[in-house]
Amino acid sequence: MNMYRTHTCGELTLKNLGETVTLSGWVQKSRDLGGMTFIDMRDRYGITQLTFNTDDDEQLRELARDLGREYVIQVKGTVIERSNKNLNIPTGEIEIKVEELKVLNAAKTPPFTIENESDGGEELRMKYRYLDIRRNPVKNNLIMRHKVAQEIRRYLDQENFLEVETPVLIKSTPEGARDFVVPSRVHPGEFYALPQSPQTFKQLLMVSGIDKYFQIVKCFRDEDLRADRQPEFTQVDCEMSFVEQSDIINTFEGLTKHLFKNVKGITLEDFPTMPYADAMKYYGSDKPDIRFDMRFVELNEVVKGHGFPVFDNAELVVGINAKGCAKYTRKQLDKLTSFVKRPQVGATGLVYARVNEDGTVKSSVDKFYSQEALEQWKEAFKGESGDLLLVMAGPSDEVRKQLCELRLEVGNIEGLRDPSHYAPLWVVDFPLLEWDSESERFHAMHHPFTSPKSEDIPLLDTEPEKVRANAYDLVINGVEVGGGSIRIHDKELQSLMFKHLGFTPEEAQNQFGFLMEAFTYGAPPHGGIALGFDRLVSIFAGIDSIRDVIAFPKNNAGKDVMINAPASIDQSQLEELSLKTTN
Ligand code: AMO
Repeated sequence: MNMYRTHTCGELTLKNLGETVTLSGWVQKSRDLGGMTFIDMRDRYGITQLTFNTDDDEQLRELARDLGREYVIQVKGTVIERSNKNLNIPTGEIEIKVEELKVLNAAKTPPFTIENESDGGEELRMKYRYLDIRRNPVKNNLIMRHKVAQEIRRYLDQENFLEVETPVLIKSTPEGARDFVVPSRVHPGEFYALPQSPQTFKQLLMVSGIDKYFQIVKCFRDEDLRADRQPEFTQVDCEMSFVEQSDIINTFEGLTKHLFKNVKGITLEDFPTMPYADAMKYYGSDKPDIRFDMRFVELNEVVKGHGFPVFDNAELVVGINAKGCAKYTRKQLDKLTSFVKRPQVGATGLVYARVNEDGTVKSSVDKFYSQEALEQWKEAFKGESGDLLLVMAGPSDEVRKQLCELRLEVGNIEGLRDPSHYAPLWVVDFPLLEWDSESERFHAMHHPFTSPKSEDIPLLDTEPEKVRANAYDLVINGVEVGGGSIRIHDKELQSLMFKHLGFTPEEAQNQFGFLMEAFTYGAPPHGGIALGFDRLVSIFAGIDSIRDVIAFPKNNAGKDVMINAPASIDQSQLEELSLKTTN
């Protein structure tokens, strides 16, 4: 028998009445009432109430009264029925009448309360993350994370995938972010890079004949941080041989459904598929939140030529119909206008029009538009009494992004983005190439190994921006949960791609020679996907920030404030790594 405990703090019930038990855990809270002391003792599994009675043992009660919050204790006692029951917790009908108490370790008073609702600010809780994890909301997220990982392994194992580890000290991978680099001591002036993803390795594994690979793997990207981005994060990285796009989509839609069923008890319908071009046209985003409709309506034909310069001079005038929102007050509309004018959104303004009860339309630009003209607006939006039409204008790409933000904001205000409602979809037919105005050349939108759609290959020479890729993203509730593609497995086509991406044959050889060489030894047709594991878990947990589902995350500045990293290193270490700067 374990000497510290016979049971956990979460399992004793009326069924155990009269049993002598030993429990170990932390003091959550203590209360003195007359001749009694009550202590809530916590461990990972729950809370059990302990009682100490002066009449039984005065010395023991005194000892109990001296216990501070978060002391680690061990008690032996009898399970008795509670007179004052707490039906909110599984152990709430019993308590332990303590006969022996041992302090296993004293504790300093914690810097914040370790309760579900803590009084500690974010930075403080990050500094003492090990204490924060004692709190249920954080701990439960880790439990959820574990469960999702287990179910992923279970499903993929059943589907015959092999989990293979790939190295962490590698050469730069071409995922488009900056690399974290590690200096080599043995090879002065040379560096390893930490993988932005195991992309090239998983493709090599396909050449090796491991036809179904997966790995739950840390990836590293030195990019600007956001709520859904960490410099080190985890991917469920997968690759398959002898597959086309539909095979990958079926397998990973299957995985996603399996996870929802087994982790959340939710049965999902088949996921819809949306071409990238439609996602941008109707939602202004390649990761549309389709929990609600409110699609974009393009208005150039309707609004131009009425003397309103903002619309007349704009490349695109586009709007949304906020159903039933005509009731918004002037103040609410001003707030929406300020929202779109914030630097993060960057719009110059917002035009609105209410569809009145009698069907007439009242706009913020009535000066330029007659009732007849506004009637055409209404028609374009399929507007009905009580609707609010919100219209923005500007350069196409920018105004779409801005309207996307506004759409999401209205969705938030109207409660249309319920985190317990899930709307997954596949976004497909991404463009292969993306123009980068800074370097004045095309970049691979996904990565350089992504195969173009065969019917679009002839366009590579004439209209490269029109070439579509065999690439797909899994989007849930407006979050890009995963992305992947069918790869180029043909050396000639790969060389052609490198050429279009502006690599000289030498550069391509230098950076990816090993992969191109591998492809000369019999590369099967293959493709894959990587799911953002942290994002997936945060969706299951119904929270916005992936930090909350990571045990020891970095803060907004990319720092681990608990261990104080990054930090400077000794001069001697710098010297050893040939990194010493001479001032
Ligand atoms: P991609 O770059 O799209 O594809 O990444 C796959 C998924 O990883 C998640 N993700 C992140 N999560 C948290 N923090 C970050 N900084 C971060 N960056 C990405 C996203 C994203 O959809 N090798 C390819 C996959 C493939 O082609 O098979 C890749 O890495 O959820």
